[in-house]
Amino acid sequence: MLVSVSILSSVYKAKEIVEKINKTTADFIHLDIMDGKFVENKTFTFNEIKKLVNFSNKKLDVHLMVKNPLKYIEDYALLNTEYITFHYESVNNHIDIINKIQEYGLKVGISIKPKTDVSEIENILKYLDLVLIMGVEPGKSGQEFKESTLDKIEKLKQVIVENGYKTIISVDGGINDEVFKMVKEKGADMIVSASYLHEGDMEEKIKEFKV
Ligand code: DX5
Ligand code: ZN
Repeated sequence: MLVSVSILSSVYKAKEIVEKINKTTADFIHLDIMDGKFVENKTFTFNEIKKLVNFSNKKLDVHLMVKNPLKYIEDYALLNTEYITFHYESVNNHIDIINKIQEYGLKVGISIKPKTDVSEIENILKYLDLVLIMGVEPGKSGQEFKESTLDKIEKLKQVIVENGYKTIISVDGGINDEVFKMVKEKGADMIVSASYLHEGDMEEKIKEFKV
């Protein structure tokens, strides 16, 4: 299981959090980028992010919760980024955005909100390195996992396996130890977590996710 640690939205504590994540076996730092339009909240500005990631030794897993993903790609592509993920619901020209991300040599992900069905992305799955299934409405940390997400993971896994795609499944929002077991059983390859991992001993919890 890959583990991507989401940094909480507070800019003030973020440097300490990044340094804490450095000392763990986490695979990625998950960056939640919100524009105040696609979702209500706004997170870090690019300048804040640039300063922050200087302190990090982890690759970045960028989650764009924005109305116009094209505007953000170049900036984030120039950091130590492995994945850029944008929302299926944010645009109509999915292939253009996918191409743009791939032009920078990065892996590309699409995220789907709780109400978006897996069938909507089936025809573009072959282009995707990752699908980020939201377990909560995008916008903030600390929400409760929606159980209906489990069927979506199972269905998506089935389509991926049947077609022999290389796409991995990441699940974001509401992950804790109990939810982890369920999403793993349904076929998740990566989990994203903020509130659960930031409470208590982060490395202990990451180790449990990795067994
Ligand atoms: C939600 C974000 C998540 C969030 C996860 O909109 O995309 O990455 O930070 O937070 P928890 O793990 O607290 O649900
Ligand atoms: Zn996220």
